[in-house]
Amino acid sequence: MVGKTIKDLKEMSQTEMIEYLDETVRPEEGSIPAYILGDANVYDLEHKKLFLKTWLFIGHESEIPNKNDYMLRDLGGYSVIITRSADGVIRGFYNMCTHRGMKLCRADKGNKSSFTCPYHGFNFKNNGDLVGVPLQKDIYGTDLDKSTLGLHKVRIESYKGLLFGTWNEDAEPLTEFLGDFKWYLDILVGRAEMEVVGPPQRFIIHSNWKVGADNFVGDSYHTMVTHGSIVKLGMVPSATYSKKGYQIHTENGHGLNLGTPNPDFAFPEELIPEYKSNLSEEQFDVLSNLKNMIGNIFPNISFLISHTKVKDKLISNTTMRMWRPVGVDKMEVISWFLVEKNASQDWKNRSRDSYILTFSPSGIFEQDDTEVFTDITAAASGPMPYMKELTYNYTMGMHREPVKDFAGPGVVYDDKFSEANQRNFYRYWLDLMKA
Ligand SMILES: [Fe+2]
Repeated sequence: MVGKTIKDLKEMSQTEMIEYLDETVRPEEGSIPAYILGDANVYDLEHKKLFLKTWLFIGHESEIPNKNDYMLRDLGGYSVIITRSADGVIRGFYNMCTHRGMKLCRADKGNKSSFTCPYHGFNFKNNGDLVGVPLQKDIYGTDLDKSTLGLHKVRIESYKGLLFGTWNEDAEPLTEFLGDFKWYLDILVGRAEMEVVGPPQRFIIHSNWKVGADNFVGDSYHTMVTHGSIVKLGMVPSATYSKKGYQIHTENGHGLNLGTPNPDFAFPEELIPEYKSNLSEEQFDVLSNLKNMIGNIFPNISFLISHTKVKDKLISNTTMRMWRPVGVDKMEVISWFLVEKNASQDWKNRSRDSYILTFSPSGIFEQDDTEVFTDITAAASGPMPYMKELTYNYTMGMHREPVKDFAGPGVVYDDKFSEANQRNFYRYWLDLMKA
């Protein structure tokens, strides 16, 4: 047995660490060790095995709607420039000048057809081609072949406006990685033409990134306690409001909770024809009955449709949020607000108000959650949780059988209070760490 009896986690080789993970991370038994949230070596291994291997969310196509728009995004810890060139094609490049490695672009967002390196002035078109080198003829003669010095391309694919990138040239196509989960993403962002409003909000939380992913992939159980104040405010009808509905997971660690039924239609009614033209009958049926929808695309992009009462009116809002790791105990939360492009301005405004009131740095739910995320991370930090072999209990719902009569794909349970989705998340996490 590899483990604390032999050596400290810090002294383990990568092979020993993987063996130890395999021995101690036991999703099928509902047991997850605390050290995986607090150990720096696990964090480093995740970077190699997960964040440089899988597809990662980088934004929405509507964030760069015009020719020559661009934005900077993080892809697995590295800055990438996402451009929309004159031909309308969206491309991604490593944000590094190919001459001496300087960060080429330093503005978050803008509109330009080319980028000039601040170090020596090399100029690159937004399709990646190197087009200008200061004093080229004089200092290089005829020897410099600019065609070999284009920007390093990043592999990008999109699904229903959602842009993903990966550093892994051998990764399966995005559509395969998303698999059956696409059925639910259609309801989230494919139901109508969607647009992101404003730049995403960004804030730092002292939490391991997995706590956020775990919370959104399947934890509806916490809402009645952590978010108990919203019941008192009358924003939801009861403390067990979040229990009723379905918990669903698919392959590759993806999962969501669907809150149903809803006597009210939570979306702009004038868009029903658009919804019906974009969704199957079964998907529209789910949308019509939707109270809320909370999930996570593996590894770290969560999403949410929530439905709350604001100023006595029920209104839904749609958001996506990334738990971007910036350290074992620190993450940047990047939160996008999406809305139906063809909704009325009044509806868009009210939906945005509802988003700001609930999920954003000033949102009621967000502040409840981040307190919990921070304390869980602090309790998992340092050598003690490993030395004492502290574990978390993930056995909720293990006695339940999946239902067969739900219209959508995946493994479906007809109750949201279960930890089947977290077990599925950690199973895939472990598979990738071992790969
Ligand atoms: Fe929460």
